[in-house]
Amino acid sequence: MDWADKVVLVTGASSGIGRGLAVELTRRGAAVGLLARRAELLHEIVAEIQAAGGRALALPVDVTNAGSVRDAADQLTAAFGPIDVLIANAGVALTTPGTELIAEEIAGLINVNVVGVINSVTAVVGGMTERGRGQMVAISSLAAYRGLPKSAAYCSSKAAVSAFFESLRLDLEPKGIAVTIIHPGFIKTALTAGRKSQMPYLMELDDAVEKIVWAIEKRKKTYAFPWQLATIVRAGMVMPTFMYDWISRRNSFRE
Ligand SMILES: NC(=O)c1ccc[n+]([C@@H]2O[C@H](COP(=O)([O-])OP(=O)(O)OC[C@H]3O[C@@H](n4cnc5c(N)ncnc54)[C@H](OP(=O)(O)O)[C@@H]3O)[C@@H](O)[C@H]2O)c1
Repeated sequence: MDWADKVVLVTGASSGIGRGLAVELTRRGAAVGLLARRAELLHEIVAEIQAAGGRALALPVDVTNAGSVRDAADQLTAAFGPIDVLIANAGVALTTPGTELIAEEIAGLINVNVVGVINSVTAVVGGMTERGRGQMVAISSLAAYRGLPKSAAYCSSKAAVSAFFESLRLDLEPKGIAVTIIHPGFIKTALTAGRKSQMPYLMELDDAVEKIVWAIEKRKKTYAFPWQLATIVRAGMVMPTFMYDWISRRNSFRE
């Protein structure tokens, strides 16, 4: 894949995985739009990229606002040309024990993790369909596969993202648009920082970024990593429910 002629929109690019992907892709020659809410951080990252000779544009926008995301996509197109790759990465996490659910908090998470992804896709799908090429990438999670303890909000949001993208794949692949669903395990970012519970096979950010870029370049339909945790999660999918419940209750990833 020749990144030098690609324009990429990365949401959630002010920190963690999104920031890592944006920096790496500009290093490989892509022009990247960095979308997130924290404008100051975005401008700092863009300045760093430009100082290293890369092409980048800060797009300080909230993904929950469909109109603003559309405007951001238009700005990126005006600056560098039509968007070739969308990486819908912006997301938040929340511990939600079933006995202590707060409707507004959960709605807020769903709004970012699900509606934000839908806003990002709808902002770029028209252009990609017209040109008959492009790639949509979702940063979902291994938490999408089955419900985990104290994670009803997060798991359901990621299950929604994966299902949304799977449906898109069926519709868009025949139109020349690749759809890639990434299911990462635990990665060292602000999202996992400070968590005291076990995080098996916790990965360094740089290693995760390298794996995600590889999957995008291969235009993988789905990619789950690290393989050890992905294998355990896949085993959970075919387990009888009583066995799944017994094991899951004893292995909470949230305190
Ligand atoms: N870290 C992990 O272990 C892990 C594992 C599996 C999947 N993931 C997924 O990977 C994605 C990135 O997470 P991360 O670990 O890199 O966490 P992170 O460092 O906290 O980054 C989250 C990014 O999302 C952005 N964001 C949050 N709300 C937003 C909003 N309303 N509008 C626009 N941008 C928003 C944040 O920017 P602003 O605050 O500046 O808006 C930030 O750039 C998430 O979807 C997460 O669920 C992470």
